[in-house]
Amino acid sequence: MPRITYIEFGGRQHVIDLPNGVSVMEGARDNGILGIRADCGGACACSTCHVYVDPGWMDRLPPPGPMEEDMLDFAYQPDPARSRLTCQLRVSDDLDGLVVSMPEAQS
Ligand code: FES
Repeated sequence: MPRITYIEFGGRQHVIDLPNGVSVMEGARDNGILGIRADCGGACACSTCHVYVDPGWMDRLPPPGPMEEDMLDFAYQPDPARSRLTCQLRVSDDLDGLVVSMPEAQS
């Protein structure tokens, strides 16, 4: 199973093996990881599942769609070079080793 590392704002790390097909947001939610609120439940309508993707991973991820790009404008302190919405990232073997960091807050 692909292994995803979530890093809370304070530095606490969670290394989780996730089945293919779930979203990176669902992986956090279902494992009780703090820092990803996901208020809209994954409908790409809230931006509270925002994370910063580790350097080196942005080019390996599928590009964001137009809805995600729009919603990222409402995220807390987005960084165009490394911000993504985790509800839009689907776990697959290609994401094995992905590292994401949560922002200080979710807007
Ligand atoms: Fe709402 Fe991702 S959970 S935008």
